[in-house]
Amino acid sequence: MHNYMKIQSLLHLTIAFFVTLHCVYAQPIQKNVAPIVQHIDYKASKRPDRILLTLTRNPSQEMMVTWRTDNSVSQAFAEIAEVTQNYDFYKKNIQLTAISDTITSIENEQVIYHKVKFKNLKPNTQYSYRVGGRGYWSEWSDFKTTERAFTKPFQFLYLGDAQNDIFSLWSRAVRGAFKKAPNARFAVHAGDLINHSQNNYEWGEWFAASGFIPKMIPSLITLGNHEYIKDDTGHKVDVSALWNPQFNFPNNGPKGFEDRAYFVNYLNTKMICLDSNKGIVEQTTWLKKVLKENKEPWVIVFFHHPVISAAKGRVNTAIMTHWKPLFDQYKVDLVLQGHDHVYGRGNKVNSGLGKWNENSGTTYVVSVSGRKMYTLSDHSWMDKKGENIQLYQVITIKQDSLNFKAYTLDDQLFDHFELYKQKNTANVLKELPLHE
Ligand SMILES: [Fe+2]
Repeated sequence: MHNYMKIQSLLHLTIAFFVTLHCVYAQPIQKNVAPIVQHIDYKASKRPDRILLTLTRNPSQEMMVTWRTDNSVSQAFAEIAEVTQNYDFYKKNIQLTAISDTITSIENEQVIYHKVKFKNLKPNTQYSYRVGGRGYWSEWSDFKTTERAFTKPFQFLYLGDAQNDIFSLWSRAVRGAFKKAPNARFAVHAGDLINHSQNNYEWGEWFAASGFIPKMIPSLITLGNHEYIKDDTGHKVDVSALWNPQFNFPNNGPKGFEDRAYFVNYLNTKMICLDSNKGIVEQTTWLKKVLKENKEPWVIVFFHHPVISAAKGRVNTAIMTHWKPLFDQYKVDLVLQGHDHVYGRGNKVNSGLGKWNENSGTTYVVSVSGRKMYTLSDHSWMDKKGENIQLYQVITIKQDSLNFKAYTLDDQLFDHFELYKQKNTANVLKELPLHE
């Protein structure tokens, strides 16, 4: 080895040592530091990246797109055109100026987040859009607006915690899901998309793993505990600095939680997102109102911490006490959760009132899409359970029934059931064969 290389290696080691010291003493709980060896540079540039669609309150006529650039791009644009068979369709585009005032400093990097809400779109219509400006444009990506009303079954994806080895291994899960249901209307992510809330590198991995999928399929995301910043005593103090700039949801949640609890009416289904990390009681009044006023036949609620644990030693009493009775009362059809890093599914979940409700009608699922695994509990609420298995789910909403399929990454059906809606009584759940 040449001398200068020796000096360089020594220097790297010294830097690594001090970086490690810094983590240990300055951020004992957060550990919000990028890996010392970065194989890929996820820094922002003039070129738009982290392009992601989110649903608004009006999915038949609107779509929200968000993206990131470095801080030199103070003005950015989105262009949108209705897709036709004419190869020049994109020339008939409408250009919109982005709202570009969100500047985030993370790991000493100043970036700008840009967002555009496409409005007055035609229902049930394919559009193509691109974002950027001044010579740095994204590719054109397509999405389709929702029909005005429910006319035919539709599918959506549900993924549990991604969290670890996001680029190297979670890529397989999200891409497998897309391959299985390329026409999925949206993708639900049940929290813990990353491991360290302030670690820009892990967010970079999430977008690199997802590739073009979030550009074409809108994301519905709930906050996991790992998207929260903790103080030195372990208390959650705020969400990741990247959360609000990056994810623009409908903003119709309870006061103080508008950025983290929301609902979307999608055809015949109400999708309700809750933040199970903080403010359980504060969100309960809002949840009751949303459920009481609901007119959609199907109601699906998603949040991170399971009502009842599927892994050993993890109980969430507050959620059980405050939210579960409302799920029972308003006959919520499906609750999608993460956090436990195992698979569990069942509808015989304790009511929170000290007795077992043998048929509440609500089906609860816990799933994991990343490679971090926990040990399964022996709680009796689970009719189907699994551990040490990466999964993704494809859910099909029909008029009077809901089909649920969980797939392993070797393309096998792991769980399969259908919920049948009944008049004024609990859903009937029918187990279906694990072959197609
Ligand atoms: Fe997790």
